[in-house]
Amino acid sequence: MSAWEDLHSDCMNCKKCALWETRRNVVFGSGNPKAEVMFIGEGPGEQEDKTGQAFVGRAGQLLDDMLSLIGLDRSNIYIANIVKCRTPGNRDPLNSEQEACSAWLRRQIELINPKIIVCLGRISAKYLIKEDFKITQEHGQWFDVGGRRCMAIYHPAALLRDPRRRPETFVDLKKLQHAIMESCNNTYQGQ
Ligand code: URA
Repeated sequence: MSAWEDLHSDCMNCKKCALWETRRNVVFGSGNPKAEVMFIGEGPGEQEDKTGQAFVGRAGQLLDDMLSLIGLDRSNIYIANIVKCRTPGNRDPLNSEQEACSAWLRRQIELINPKIIVCLGRISAKYLIKEDFKITQEHGQWFDVGGRRCMAIYHPAALLRDPRRRPETFVDLKKLQHAIMESCNNTYQGQ
């Protein structure tokens, strides 16, 4: 078995925090594990818990539309979450749950080795970029995270709640597209 398959099967059996008791499925991630661009959300919602796939609910449909605006789709990116199991009632994941889950994401990042990471929303940006990240002020800015270019954009669920944020997100996505053209070799060329 490959390292990726090993990681996947270990993660599917995870009981490192109490969320395993209420989950229907572990949501490991979706897309191309050889991608140069990785998107990281917060954690699965109801549809994701039901299907085991990342970002398949309403927010996921909007994410697909956002990706297609800049020529991306799930065949040339990878999407994972900080927390792999649904929280009861979709509450924010506790710090202890994020910590318990962190080794899975760390290893996913290590194996995928993306050139660019895009944090979807505040929770992901706080976790990956810095604890005091302010999404309203710092979305669309580039940060260095362990030698990778990292940007946060508004979470698609936030854009569904507040469509006035969409024009700013479009600007952020164009910045992302530019960075991909600058530093990724395969994303727009087919892999
Ligand atoms: N929201 C997230 O942050 N992740 C998902 O997989 C779905 C919705």
